[in-house]
Amino acid sequence: MRANRVVQTMLEHKSIRKYRAKAPSEEVVRTVVRAGQQAPFASQMYSVLVSRKRTKNPFRAPLLFTICIDSYKFERIMARRGWTMATNDLTLLFFGIEDASLMAENMVIAGRSMGLGSCFLGFAMYDADRIAKQYSLPQRVFPLVQLAMGYPAEDPPPRPRYPLEFVLFEGKYREMDEELVSKAMQQMDEGYLEQDYYRRLKAKIALEGALKESFDYQTYSWTEHICRKWGQWHPSPDELIEQLRRRGFDISKTKGRAQGR
Ligand SMILES: Cc1cc2nc3c(=O)[nH]c(=O)nc-3n(C[C@H](O)[C@H](O)[C@H](O)COP(=O)(O)O)c2cc1C
Repeated sequence: MRANRVVQTMLEHKSIRKYRAKAPSEEVVRTVVRAGQQAPFASQMYSVLVSRKRTKNPFRAPLLFTICIDSYKFERIMARRGWTMATNDLTLLFFGIEDASLMAENMVIAGRSMGLGSCFLGFAMYDADRIAKQYSLPQRVFPLVQLAMGYPAEDPPPRPRYPLEFVLFEGKYREMDEELVSKAMQQMDEGYLEQDYYRRLKAKIALEGALKESFDYQTYSWTEHICRKWGQWHPSPDELIEQLRRRGFDISKTKGRAQGR
């Protein structure tokens, strides 16, 4: 594989969940966000909130960024030009997720290049209403994801990924034979077990209902973990639709005709 410093930095990525107390300087914070901004964008449909209240932040990280999808700002620009939004909210949100995610990962890489570790927190969207109150967000701004950041107080090895042949398909989607699925599962499960990842994090997801536990930390690994997540959680979209509604987004509504010039 080709490796240079940038690729090496990416291949060494690992989420950090233990942080030193030392606060990154203002210049470092601004550099991280500025590098984030330079990610490719469809329409820069994001805003970034930062909290430095270490004692309140997850993992007691010195920084907690909340990356929001932001249509409010853009609609202010449209209004200045005499336009209103004609695009439906589902399309807008997809583009917003793309913009915000690319920016967030640029922040991770920029941070890493300056010695900072980070860890995403994915459930901000279910906490959107509370976060909106906390930061006085206007309508049409939706907290998408949070990113804890600071100087690492741990140095775990990089975590495994699927084999490349389970990810990269040339020309057409490849036939997914059982052998390849097994290989992918094995690579993930053995990799996480070698690191004692779930035991260290005490991160086993409980089984709901009548299902009986048959895994301990010697056998519980990534594929079981991820199945328990998506096999049990959030069967209804209503909670998320409600969070969006409170923030002024309605994903099923057709917009009126634009009043453009
Ligand atoms: C969208 C997203 C949400 C995540 N949410 C959480 C979270 O809530 N808690 C957590 O500890 N890690 C969270 N993570 C970190 C993942 O667990 C981590 O990236 C994954 O296990 C791979 O490990 P690595 O980043 O160390 O390579 C999240 C990552 C992403 C991209």
